[in-house]
Amino acid sequence: MQRIAVLTSGGDAPGMNAAIRAVVRQARVRGWETFGVSHGFRGLMENQVRELGPRDVGGIMQQGGTVLGSARSDEFKTAEGQTHALAVLAAHGIDGLVVIGGNGSQAGAHSLAEQGIAVVGIASTIDNDLVGSDITIGVDTALNVGLEAIDRLRVTASSHNRGALVEVMGRHCGYLALMLGITGGAEAIVIPEAELEPDEVIGVVQRAFDRGKAHAIVVVAEGARNNAARLVPYFRLNRQRFGFELRATILGHVQRGGTPTHFDRLLATRLGTAAVEQLASGGHGVLVGVVGGAVVPTPLAAVVDCTKAPDLALLEMARALAQ
Ligand code: F6P
Repeated sequence: MQRIAVLTSGGDAPGMNAAIRAVVRQARVRGWETFGVSHGFRGLMENQVRELGPRDVGGIMQQGGTVLGSARSDEFKTAEGQTHALAVLAAHGIDGLVVIGGNGSQAGAHSLAEQGIAVVGIASTIDNDLVGSDITIGVDTALNVGLEAIDRLRVTASSHNRGALVEVMGRHCGYLALMLGITGGAEAIVIPEAELEPDEVIGVVQRAFDRGKAHAIVVVAEGARNNAARLVPYFRLNRQRFGFELRATILGHVQRGGTPTHFDRLLATRLGTAAVEQLASGGHGVLVGVVGGAVVPTPLAAVVDCTKAPDLALLEMARALAQ
C-alpha cells in the first residue's frame, strides 16, 4: 500500500476531523501518500481529490463538521457511479480508501470493497445506530449539545410552569432521545422502538403537574411516529382539556454542529489510527469501531443493512425515575 484516500460521507459528525488527521498522520508514519476527497462519494465521482500532508490537517481536530465536506449521493448507488469512482481512484494510483461515515456511507464502502479495492470504514454518525461500534464518532458531542438545550428549556419551563417538548435527531433510531431523556430528567420519552400515543404523552405531562411538578419535559425522537409534527397539533386541538401550556423545540441540525468533545476526539483518533493499521495489515472490507472498550474490525457485510437498537431496559429505568 502506498497511496490511500480518505473521505467523509453522509451527515457530518463532530470528531470527523480528528479521524481525518489521524489517518493522514498515521499514513505518513508508514511513508504512504494520502489524498483527501471532498464531498464524499459525489466528490470522488467528480475527481475532487487532493493530496493531504501532515501540515494540511493541523488545527482541525478542534473543529466540528468535516474539513473535507460531506454529501449524500444517489448517483453513487448506481453501478455506473461506482465504476466512475473506481476509475478516479485508479487514475490517481490510489490503492486504499478510508470511508468515515454512518450506515449509508458504509453501504457505499462495502460496494467498493466488493469490487476489489481495499476499503476500511470508520464508524461515524451522531445517530449511534451502526452495528460494529458501541458508540460512534459524534454521538457524545451531539448528546452534550442536546443536554445543554434541555437543561435550558427546563429552566424556562419551570419559571412558567409549562411543559417543554424537545425533538432530537437520530433518524430512525431512538438512541439520542433515550439517552437525553434519561440525563435530562424527562417525564416522557418517545422513541420509534417504543412508541407512545399522543394521549399517553400528554397524560404523562398532566400527571406530572398534578403531582406538583413545576415543569414537565418530553423528549421525542425525530423518527418516532408521534414526533413533534404529530404531538403539537394534537395538543393544540385538545388544549382546553389540559391545565398547562406546552412549548415545542426542534433541535434539528443545531445538535450536529458542536465542537467535538474530548471523548469524540479521542474515539476518532483511535479509529483513524486503527483504519490505517487495518490497511497496513491487509485487512479490508471492514468497519473499525469500539466494542467493550477495544477497537475492533467488523466485516462491512455484517454492518450494512443492519441497525443497532437502543437498550429498552434503560427506558424502563427512566420511567421509574420520572416520579
Ligand atoms: O444521520 C445523521 C442525521 O443527522 C440524522 O440524525 C438526521 O435525520 C439526518 O442526518 C439529517 O440529514 P440531513 O443533514 O441530510 O438533513
